[in-house]
Amino acid sequence: MKHKLFIFMLMVVFVLGWWLHWSSIEKGERLAVANCGGCHDLSAKKKNKKGPYLWGIVNRRAGIVDGFEYSEAFRQFADSRQFFWSEINLDMLITDPDKLIPGTRMAEKESDSKHAKAFKNMQNLDNRKELIVFLKMLD
Ligand code: HEC
Repeated sequence: MKHKLFIFMLMVVFVLGWWLHWSSIEKGERLAVANCGGCHDLSAKKKNKKGPYLWGIVNRRAGIVDGFEYSEAFRQFADSRQFFWSEINLDMLITDPDKLIPGTRMAEKESDSKHAKAFKNMQNLDNRKELIVFLKMLD
């Protein structure tokens, strides 16, 4: 009898862990689509929109997307150092793009409020964490 209970508990822990894992990815995906997807392609198609595609972005070197015209400010920032999009660097960028890269086009105010809303949602640490969990899967 004890045996069965133990196996049952094990299953509960397993299912719960699995559910937490997947619900976090789902939340990250929703956040990414809503806050980044307007300007960035998140798919393996690697299309450039207003911003460069984000496929494989985690640990990708900054500023290397072929055929995307980065702003002068971004170019200078990326070319003047070996800059990679580690998780901590991504976290800094989405918290406040203009603070990390002064003058970047990512921080330009849009006529609509898409941009302002996107970065307002990113002031929440949990949201940033969930979003980056999802970005790691784009590989
Ligand atoms: C209003 C449009 C817009 C939104 C919203 C936006 N971005 Fe961007 N992003 C850009 C633009 C434009 C660039 C290129 C910047 C430049 O050239 O100055 C960029 C650049 C980047 C880069 C650098 C890519 C490289 O090749 O080095 C990353 C990483 C990035 N964005 C991530 C994000 C994430 C994650 C989100 C969602 C939280 C987001 N962006 C939301 C427009 C946007």
